Amino acid sequence: MIAENDFIPSKYSTTIEKGTFKWSAPSNIALVKYWGKKENQVPANPSISFTLNNCKTITELSFEKKANPSDDFSFDLLFEGKPKEDFKPKIQKFFERVLVYLPFLKDYHFTIDTQNTFPHSSGIASSASGMSALAMNLMSLEKALHPEMTEHYFYQKASFLARLGSGSACRSIRGNVVEWGNHAEISGSSDLFGVIFPTKIHSNFQNYQDTILLVDKGEKQVSSTVGHDLMHNHPFAERRFEQAHENLSKIKAILENGNLEEFIKIVESEALTLHAMMMTSMPYFILMKPNTLEIINKIWKFRNETQIPICFTLDAGANVHVLYPENVTETVLQFIKDELVVYCQNGQYICDVIGNGVEQLK
Ligand code: DP6
Repeated sequence: MIAENDFIPSKYSTTIEKGTFKWSAPSNIALVKYWGKKENQVPANPSISFTLNNCKTITELSFEKKANPSDDFSFDLLFEGKPKEDFKPKIQKFFERVLVYLPFLKDYHFTIDTQNTFPHSSGIASSASGMSALAMNLMSLEKALHPEMTEHYFYQKASFLARLGSGSACRSIRGNVVEWGNHAEISGSSDLFGVIFPTKIHSNFQNYQDTILLVDKGEKQVSSTVGHDLMHNHPFAERRFEQAHENLSKIKAILENGNLEEFIKIVESEALTLHAMMMTSMPYFILMKPNTLEIINKIWKFRNETQIPICFTLDAGANVHVLYPENVTETVLQFIKDELVVYCQNGQYICDVIGNGVEQLK
């Protein structure tokens, strides 16, 4: 089994003075949810997600060897071309966490220039795409220092590093379906990084659609980090973690056999369970908004009337992800425009589809 120490590099074979890398990394949407963690970003239960295609972060990393070596991290952070001081503490913390795995971090001054393809403050988790894009750039630099590195190690370590930035980010490196966390039925699964779903997925899930309805773009009242923490001493935590293992077994079979009716049951139940955990934490909180519930009810009514297999899932927020197979896209988009857009803030929604993971741009 691969352990944390396996990601500590031995001596690098070359040196490099300066350069630039650029990667894009997508967001992902969990089917079985990660909610609750142990020390060092180890998840309390396994999770599985569809990698998205259109909601991405694009990050350019420029680096230059420091003229005078110092014992602190040196970096500038630009968001959409402008300095962004509020993102710096998160990056600083990330650098501290990953320093043992990337011992060159204090040797360079970095400029991190980042932008999202989706409207910022849309309430879409940008930490998954952001942390995976940064991890890819850092791995490109490590590969330049150590060209013998295998491709397998390159992507695995990128996922490992991204996880240390934000748990769900480790599922954003590859496509189309990624599992993270030890699970008895997924060979090679690990708490330390995401793995590509090991068996072939059924054609029903090819180009599976995710239309993200932006219900509330405001700042969340409770962050994911605080929410995860409230799973310690949570009265239902242990049963929930067991249930995630069971649901992962079920969804694995469903992804292979294409049973959309069963898919819907697991995915919607996972979304509501996630929010039920929030509502039964101490302190308790609610991230859904009235319009979240309006949309859910409309989806159920539409599904009942048309037998079209659409369903919803939720992240730690009020936005609704509407999931459906490619062959019903036209009808579903019409339904969304006619009946759901009224519940979206400024009528905004984003059409996405299951995707292939990171891409190198430079
Ligand atoms: C509800 O990955 O954002 O989206 O590890 O603290 O950064 P941190 O948490 P984060 O948690 C997201 C949880 C979720 C469910 C999921 O994506 O599995």
